[in-house]
Amino acid sequence: MPCSRSRLTCLVLAAVLAATVSAQTLLDCGESRYFPSQYTCFDGDFLCPITDDVDFLRCGLACYNTQDYACSNSTLEQNTHDPNQLLACGEAFFSPLKYDCFDGTFLCPKYEGEASLRCGDACYFTEQYTCNADDALEPKAAAPDCVPNFGASQVCNDAGCFPKACCPGLISIGDKCRDPCDLNPQKCWTGN
Ligand SMILES: *[C@@H]1O[C@H](CO)[C@@H](O)[C@H](O)[C@H]1NC(C)=O
Repeated sequence: MPCSRSRLTCLVLAAVLAATVSAQTLLDCGESRYFPSQYTCFDGDFLCPITDDVDFLRCGLACYNTQDYACSNSTLEQNTHDPNQLLACGEAFFSPLKYDCFDGTFLCPKYEGEASLRCGDACYFTEQYTCNADDALEPKAAAPDCVPNFGASQVCNDAGCFPKACCPGLISIGDKCRDPCDLNPQKCWTGN
């Protein structure tokens, strides 16, 4: 209930939300400008679209959807979904069910069918990070499905327990996401 405490809190929150929406800034990709919610910039100058939350990946001079295609040494191949299909990525071979090949040489793993992307010498998932112009990873400001203060920081089912991402500024303590400032106010008091 963000607005229950005071009208001032409400106004401040509304201002923060407005700033977040307009913070959907245009980024540079070579000569082009793009919204990071709509495109991914590969190698500093090549845009591929994001449609229905699916990141299209670069393969040579094309963009492809990993459901249907795979990239072997920068050439597009059908993704046959056959566990025995092996494609070349430089000197290595990979199953397109488990990896994607970037720049003809660099493998990044998939997680539950979702591709991770290359950032310098690392791989990242776009929900969690952005890759800046210096090929450094930056945590995303707010994951849309991050767990708020006092929320459960893991989900358990038949297959075991899996961690969930706490919202920025929160840490997982026990099985809850908690604001470290609640636990040690002196450390976090900023005076405002
Ligand atoms: C892929 O590229 C590597 C290095 O450029 C090369 O050694 C290899 O033979 C290529 N593989 C295929 C199947 O073309």
